[in-house]
Amino acid sequence: MRKKIVAGNWKMNKTQSEIIELTTALSVALQKHELADNHEVIICPSLVYLSKVKDILAILADKKIKVGSQNCHTQNFGAYTGEVSAAMLKSLDVQYVLAGHSERRTYFGENNSIVKAKLDIALAQGLQVIFCCGESLTIREKEAHFDFIATQLEESLFHLTKEELKNIVIAYEPIWAIGTGVTASPEQAEEIHAHIRALLGKKYDETTAENTTILYGGSCKPTNAAQLFSQPNVDGGLIGGASLKADSFMGIIENL
Ligand code: PGA
Repeated sequence: MRKKIVAGNWKMNKTQSEIIELTTALSVALQKHELADNHEVIICPSLVYLSKVKDILAILADKKIKVGSQNCHTQNFGAYTGEVSAAMLKSLDVQYVLAGHSERRTYFGENNSIVKAKLDIALAQGLQVIFCCGESLTIREKEAHFDFIATQLEESLFHLTKEELKNIVIAYEPIWAIGTGVTASPEQAEEIHAHIRALLGKKYDETTAENTTILYGGSCKPTNAAQLFSQPNVDGGLIGGASLKADSFMGIIENL
């Protein structure tokens, strides 16, 4: 049975005390919630808070919440001022890293080949990667989104072996839905998720396709999570805004 995941991308939000409060509230709420064996909850705080969040979870003896980084560099060490590496994340015992998020692509110039290099170094360090893909509104309006996503997979992901792919979670995040309040309809999400799974089947095999977790991201909230997650190819969500409050994040987790 493939993993179902709700991951919170906290982006560049909150002060340290607010992070402590949110992490604690979420952990306490999750203690009362039964998580199925194949269900996972991940939080991705800003890099500066990763250690703190790991410490809080250790103090609370929380085994349910996994921690992810929002970014890593393409090199492990060196003269790259302001950057953080996969080796550093591994040394903190961080389990996941995001790669290919549209905000990184748009504001920091990350293209498919940079994303590919990030995937490689993260996997080599033993991290699991949430690989994000998704089209802009312009591309969707031109009806080029199926091909656009196929190219993103082709250029960043499809060099990996079947074994390596086991440590990849794919997140389909249409850019027009991120932080906009406009959500892809369950049918729109399902159509792309099925497309991604079919591409995996063609490139690898049916088992690999069936075992790969594909998340939806883009204005997912407690009120639409149930419908989105009930689609056969939607295995959970990557959540931005709605993950910044414990009760709304829990409201999404409860729909897994
Ligand atoms: P959103 O962000 O839920 O605020 O739309 C999703 C994301 O960027 O991962």
